[in-house]
Amino acid sequence: MCGIIGYQGYREAVPVLLEGLERLEYRGYDSAGIAIIEGRELKVAKRAGKLVELKAHLNGYFGSARVGIGHTRWATHGRPTDTNAHPHLDCSGNFAVVHNGIIENYQELKQWLTAEGHHFLSETDTEVLVHLIEHYYRGDLLQAVQRMLPKLQGSYALAVISPCHPEEIVGVRQDSPLIVGLGEGETFLASDIPALLPYTRDTYILENGEVVYVTPEGVRILDSYGQPRGKQVFHVTWDLEAAEKGGYAHFMLKEIHEQPRALRDTLASRLDVSSGGVKLEGVNLTSEEARSLQKVVLIACGTAAYAGMAGKYIWERLLRLPVEFDVASEFRYRQPLLDEHTLALVISQSGETADTLAGLREAKKHKARILAITNVVGSSVAREADDVLYTWAGPEIAVASTKAYLTQLAALYLLALYLGRARGEATWALELARELACAPSKVEKIFDLEEEIQELASNLAPHEHAFYLGRGLDYAVALEGALKLKEISYLHAEACPAGELKHGPLALIEDGTPVIALATQEDLLEKMLSNIKEVKARGAWVLALALEGNEAVAQEADRVLYLPRIHPILSPLVSAVPLQLLAYYVAKARGCPIDKPRNLAKSVTVE
Ligand code: F6R
Repeated sequence: MCGIIGYQGYREAVPVLLEGLERLEYRGYDSAGIAIIEGRELKVAKRAGKLVELKAHLNGYFGSARVGIGHTRWATHGRPTDTNAHPHLDCSGNFAVVHNGIIENYQELKQWLTAEGHHFLSETDTEVLVHLIEHYYRGDLLQAVQRMLPKLQGSYALAVISPCHPEEIVGVRQDSPLIVGLGEGETFLASDIPALLPYTRDTYILENGEVVYVTPEGVRILDSYGQPRGKQVFHVTWDLEAAEKGGYAHFMLKEIHEQPRALRDTLASRLDVSSGGVKLEGVNLTSEEARSLQKVVLIACGTAAYAGMAGKYIWERLLRLPVEFDVASEFRYRQPLLDEHTLALVISQSGETADTLAGLREAKKHKARILAITNVVGSSVAREADDVLYTWAGPEIAVASTKAYLTQLAALYLLALYLGRARGEATWALELARELACAPSKVEKIFDLEEEIQELASNLAPHEHAFYLGRGLDYAVALEGALKLKEISYLHAEACPAGELKHGPLALIEDGTPVIALATQEDLLEKMLSNIKEVKARGAWVLALALEGNEAVAQEADRVLYLPRIHPILSPLVSAVPLQLLAYYVAKARGCPIDKPRNLAKSVTVE
């Protein structure tokens, strides 16, 4: 993972590169660097740390370059140091490369290149690329890159420049995203669309194996055999505003507040409340195919996996179809039992997560039908799946996922309606569709609790541990609530199925231990109340989440956040939001860098 950027045109390259890197910094912020061509000279500046360090180092230097590349790093091979920062140069100083991904056979290549007389400076896998280009260079930059490609194993989006070809950039994509921005007399390369939006909305989304060759004459896209590719221009319709903070202190807070809108966008045009039917463009299972399904396997990571876990409870209850829950990094190595009667449900905000993609490919090998839920049009997951349902959340910039999670849940309800109809087992469809249509306005009401949540967060902030309890669907949401708290506030949080407490975790409860107890499932309410009593008896401080009207909860817990009444099967849509706000305000009270938590990055394209 990392972000890369490239520019060729009539503007000063340095400010364009720096602005692009700022928009890509969510992909990693261990170091940043740029390489530019000034006259016939290759100039490089790079610094460990966030982009501000590089800017301070440049000290306002913009130079006159009109061509350059840049990089923001999430360290994999080698510590985050100045030397390991990209761009990397070859021995002659004639080539500079930025790279996102991992060159899996770099050790072998490094040994060979070292024996050939190349001298390496960094600990990175990337550095082999630039030495390979030097090795294969015979006066043509494009050809040197093309000659190198068959040598590489692994994933890469890369961009190369050379002062010997001062107006050219060569880029390649293999399993890491690379977008080409098409301007008037200028061209951009970037790992993600927001970096291009100040300049253009017309893009090419590169496919695996494609090479982009940028010259003043324009852009050529070539396949891995060097043959020209006819590409369709992808016109971006959403605004840059959607990828900016819009007055909020953090992207995360903005994205939490965007959830009613994101839910409406994901649901509205697809849901028919009068019939309980859905129209899902991109999902094409016939009734016969849907009926032939014998099980569902989930393939996802992190928050997306927790959305999937809620989906397991929802689908099993509504569709009476077994759903296996696994995180993708486990799924792919456990020799899963799949066949053509299996539906592989792949969930990924970015559509580029390496483990998720590998799981998808594993499922494909076994002939499972691949149904993807993703937020990014044209992403790898979207392209490789048989059926795709897009979450219309808009760009999610904060590393901690919020609106993507909620829209993934919405997509799971829509798919339950679709599959229920197709399998002829949907007596519940009309009621669910009606309730679902009201969900965005119920989520809106959660924001009336924001001040109270902020006050509760100030109580929680001085602690070092917190427990999240729930049963059934509430347990799936508890996992997500705990993940949110730990990743952005660095407070240790553990989610526990409430019935499991007495089998171990109860030993950790002592005077004042904060416990967040989810109690939205009416059929499990009595059991949950007993679990609240158990932790209270050991001195815990309990904050409960319950649906309006469940007065009994207030008698047991120290504090209760009452959520708008909703069908219990839809409760994650309202219970997840206060947990996101709680995590946000705890992190704020602890002075954490909320949008860019340490050690994490937005799109995890390494295993
Ligand atoms: C946590 C978070 C991560 C992602 C995970 C999968 O807030 O965002 O756990 O959910 O890295 O990412 P995607 O959904 O892009 O595959």
